[in-house]
Amino acid sequence: MNLTNFQPKRLLVTGGAGFLGSHFVDHWLSLADDHFVVVLDALTYAGDRTYLDHADAARMQFVHDNILHGDLVRQLLEDFKLDTIAHFAAETHVDRSLSDPDIFITSNVLGTQRLLEAARLAWAKKEPLAHRFHMVSTDEVYGELKPGNAAWKEGQPYAPNSPYSASKAAADHLVRAYHRSFGLAVSWSHSCNAYGPRQYPEKLIPVALKCWLHDEPAPLYAGGHQIREWMYASDQADGVAKILRRGQAGRAYHLGGSKACTNLELLRLLWQQFTAQRTTQLSFADAICSVEDRLGHDQAYGLDGSRAEHELQFQPGVELAEGLAKTVGWYLKRWDAPT
Ligand SMILES: NC(=O)c1ccc[n+]([C@@H]2O[C@H](COP(=O)([O-])OP(=O)(O)OC[C@H]3O[C@@H](n4cnc5c(N)ncnc54)[C@H](O)[C@@H]3O)[C@@H](O)[C@H]2O)c1
Repeated sequence: MNLTNFQPKRLLVTGGAGFLGSHFVDHWLSLADDHFVVVLDALTYAGDRTYLDHADAARMQFVHDNILHGDLVRQLLEDFKLDTIAHFAAETHVDRSLSDPDIFITSNVLGTQRLLEAARLAWAKKEPLAHRFHMVSTDEVYGELKPGNAAWKEGQPYAPNSPYSASKAAADHLVRAYHRSFGLAVSWSHSCNAYGPRQYPEKLIPVALKCWLHDEPAPLYAGGHQIREWMYASDQADGVAKILRRGQAGRAYHLGGSKACTNLELLRLLWQQFTAQRTTQLSFADAICSVEDRLGHDQAYGLDGSRAEHELQFQPGVELAEGLAKTVGWYLKRWDAPT
């Protein structure tokens, strides 16, 4: 089912005051003057309304509420004549999902189902393909890439290992089911690790920067041997926008395939950018401290990004060193550190 004749313009962006959601709002509004966005965000600890302060107020409406409120979602879709949902809202930190899994099931699974149901009801009378529901998912639903195995292609069986990834996997299945059962025009993307400005300082890069600003070592699980791919936030936003504009309904796309490195290698690169912008007494050896591994920690992830490259002409544009330099600059400015 091809969606290329339908051009989404008026979007509901859930989680648009969070890290990736706010980068997506910036990108979407920059693409065309007739693009309009309603951001629905509960402003959990990870959301920040000021990330949207610079957006054109005539083309962006902010609603402080929860995706669990299906009646409200339906009303927003109808009142603002929205044709598309870009669903970023979620609880996203694996460690929190290990200590408090309930909220992950509520927000990520039930929240996604409430959105799907609201979309189904609001768009029931629309042309079959004049709407879109896009789910932002993760590479973590596939579980752990074993040494020597090829990178995952779309359609790989799911084997999530944390409550976070299991909740995202369940949500993906609901999205797919609403396509099959009700004909909702859905798509979903599996993203590799994203980085950049506005990420809440519980994730690896901002945690390390915060420690180093206080001349403290950054904690690294089990010495940092885990392998991850890293993609700059604006590239992730570009990937989601390309799926919305060119992707096929009922189909998954990988936003990954970039250079992979261990978490230790990543912090070494980050350290180079940090010390280029700020003087410190620490050496790199002092700047890292190995801590006990996370429960059930996946050793490696790896996405084959060739479908998005060939079908959507998607390619990340920001090199890791360049993206890390921009990220360091943003956090130093935000935390008002002398440089
Ligand atoms: N950051 C990554 O590396 C990465 C990688 C792969 C996939 N993803 C996915 O991308 C999406 C965005 O991730 P992120 O890193 O920007 O997350 P984030 O934690 O920075 O932001 C999540 C946003 O969702 C909002 N939110 C949470 N629960 C809500 C609810 N019930 N109702 C309304 N709003 C709610 C929060 O207030 C916040 O603004 C998530 O779905 C995540 O699973 C992220």
